[in-house]
Amino acid sequence: MRARGWWRTAALVAVAAVLLAACASDAPQDSLDPAGPYARTIDDLFRPVFWIAVGVFVLVEGLLVAAMIKFRARPGRSDKVKQVHGNTRLEIAWTILPALLLAGVAVPTVGTLFELSRRPSGDVLEITVVGKQWWWAVEYPQLDPPVVTANEIHIEADLPVYLTLESDNVIHSFWVPRLAGKQDLVPGRSENLLIQADEPGTYLGQCAEFCGIAHWNMRFVVIAHDEAGFDAWVEGQQSDPPEPTGDLAQRGRELFLEGSFPGEDGMTGGQCIACHAPPGTGTVQAQGPDLTHFASRQTFAGSILENTPENLARWLADPPEVKPGSLMPDYGLTQEEIDALVAYLMSLE
Ligand code: CUA
Repeated sequence: MRARGWWRTAALVAVAAVLLAACASDAPQDSLDPAGPYARTIDDLFRPVFWIAVGVFVLVEGLLVAAMIKFRARPGRSDKVKQVHGNTRLEIAWTILPALLLAGVAVPTVGTLFELSRRPSGDVLEITVVGKQWWWAVEYPQLDPPVVTANEIHIEADLPVYLTLESDNVIHSFWVPRLAGKQDLVPGRSENLLIQADEPGTYLGQCAEFCGIAHWNMRFVVIAHDEAGFDAWVEGQQSDPPEPTGDLAQRGRELFLEGSFPGEDGMTGGQCIACHAPPGTGTVQAQGPDLTHFASRQTFAGSILENTPENLARWLADPPEVKPGSLMPDYGLTQEEIDALVAYLMSLE
């Protein structure tokens, strides 16, 4: 009896916690709070379907509960309830009605699915996003010279963005709840998705398909600018990074381009440029993010860390400690090397 009471309390607390978690007033990833036309299209579809589902639930559960109460066992009554086996008319009705209902929901749903992956006519910003383990490579193929960045997708507010989504490893899922629905990134395939923001602002996103140990740390941000702000960002990304000034930053560049590190165990070491393209060369490395304009980013490491010198130093000292599963190993850097690399990377505006 005692144990049963405990379980009941625990179950109630769990249910209350789940319900209350839905009440956050400042939830930045609220899919019920669409911030652009494509997200609104989904919302406009979701709401009627939700209320149809509520109607079906109330009808079915209502009949069930009413039958349970009306025909419940009472002393001396079992022989009075009429037993029924099969009813052709009823069975045809409850087969056809749900089929019609499902067809009625399927037609607008399928139409919307296609609409949300079709390239609109008129001005469109094209961006290719490639899911990595565990970060996002972001490329702007329309721009000349092309712009490459990581974990931050800069867009222009009020302009449709036509995304091409790819993966070269496992299945990921691209999800910015306030701008669009989820779209899987499947190796060997190229998927398309439209996003658009009404207003300048920052919209949080994350990987929504389990893709390995750091799946939960595979986040990203969509930053919507006004037209002038977006143009300024593009110009900054297309220009060469400034020459590092000061001995420390220059030493950092030397370490980045030429340094070879033993690794914390003397085995797992290597070079920065084994995975990261030398900043400013316009080459793209498959494994690690391009760092050409690293200092212009708000976050790094799958968008889990704010981009500050302190966080960068913490990261360089032991990446897998900060982000379990990180493919960047602990290179066994000395404090002097860390300071120099931080000074260099932070100069890459
Ligand atoms: Cu990528 Cu989960």
